Amino acid sequence: MMMAVAGSAVGLGNIWRFPFLAGQNGGAAFLIIYLALVLLVGLPLVLSEFTIGRAAKMGPIKAFEVLAPRTKWKGVGYLNVLVGFVLMGFYSVVAGWTLRFLVDSVAGGFEGMSAAQISDSFTSFTSSVWQPVIYAIFFLAVSALIVARGVEKGIEKFNKVLMPALFVMLILLCVNSFTLDGWDEGMTFLFSPDWSAVTGQTIIDALGQVFLTLSVGMGVLITYSSYVVGDDNMARSKGIVSIIDTSVAILAGVAIFPAVFTFGLEPAEGPALVFLTLPNVFAQLPGGYFLAILFFAMLAIAAITSAISIMEMLTAIFIEQFNITRRRAVTIISVMIGVLAVMCAASSQVFEFFDTLSANYLLTIGGLLIAIFTGWVFNRKQLYDTFTSDGRYATAIYPVFLFAVRFIAPVGIAFIILAELGII
Ligand code: TRP
Repeated sequence: MMMAVAGSAVGLGNIWRFPFLAGQNGGAAFLIIYLALVLLVGLPLVLSEFTIGRAAKMGPIKAFEVLAPRTKWKGVGYLNVLVGFVLMGFYSVVAGWTLRFLVDSVAGGFEGMSAAQISDSFTSFTSSVWQPVIYAIFFLAVSALIVARGVEKGIEKFNKVLMPALFVMLILLCVNSFTLDGWDEGMTFLFSPDWSAVTGQTIIDALGQVFLTLSVGMGVLITYSSYVVGDDNMARSKGIVSIIDTSVAILAGVAIFPAVFTFGLEPAEGPALVFLTLPNVFAQLPGGYFLAILFFAMLAIAAITSAISIMEMLTAIFIEQFNITRRRAVTIISVMIGVLAVMCAASSQVFEFFDTLSANYLLTIGGLLIAIFTGWVFNRKQLYDTFTSDGRYATAIYPVFLFAVRFIAPVGIAFIILAELGII
């Protein structure tokens, strides 16, 4: 299961979204705030979701019904469903971009292309009406097929090979970054903070990114942990997943920023950043043709393992709530996401609205409620027993965890959201 969780966590959030947000928010300053929030808010919430799922053995809506019967807490599950759809709307579009780049890499690679040509080709692709839609729908169809067959069987094996391969690939790209002219500038940008670039927006973006990248705030982890049989040392395994996830984001930064400066691109470019930057690297490298194919294939697969975790959560809920077959649930869900994806592909305003709405608001509000639930509503003895596997593991970490979910996470999240809304 750990690999399935890592597969959910490591996705476009790490390699596409983290670098472009860091680029827009002053690099290192964003990275530092992000790391602090991973520890203080993200990890405690990951553990909360796991504890909830493990105690209830149900998907999000039913889980809250089991743990807090006849209360409004199951509303959190409904919120989870909403954010699942919104997030998948834009996520499948970006996943579609990676597929298109994969096709481009196979068709001839980026050899001989200048930075301007790469950028033109990206713009003409994303502004065409039907192309991004077709790729997004193809991506959705593949994910739907996997979810329809049931996640538990194939996914774990699949992830076991894929995750390490992606890691090795990123390290290769980082080593190559070292040879680029923009190495120093890129490293300074990523690791030496310029606090003057930090605004309220930086903090809310960092918080949203923590949720998105750790797959938390949406009940996906509640669903996944409800499938786990037997027990494990949760604090340890989830700690490892968080470290893997964060390392992948940082490696992506090291692979990308030196190239940004080498090829005269803009760090604050926005969502296109990865797609405009790395092809230049591939264009230049000996063997770049194959590396490009490998890289975009792995990015697409990383996107699939994340997308299926979200679709699995939605499917589990639809099956539980409407008493329908898995296949029917997956079909309905895919069609609904497909409609949202078309909207995102058609308009960059809708795209950016969905991205911000889901990461910065819906996930964070979901996370706030999950923290309050775990810290203040969850039966304390059951919480302890579930978290520590009846006193076997992580008993020393438990008080720290409890303090974080009772105080640090809720206060921190509430403060950041209220500040963003201009209320305080
Ligand atoms: N974590 C994934 C990424 O970084 C996205 C993701 C998968 C996700 N499952 C999730 C985000 C559940 C929020 C909730 O790409």
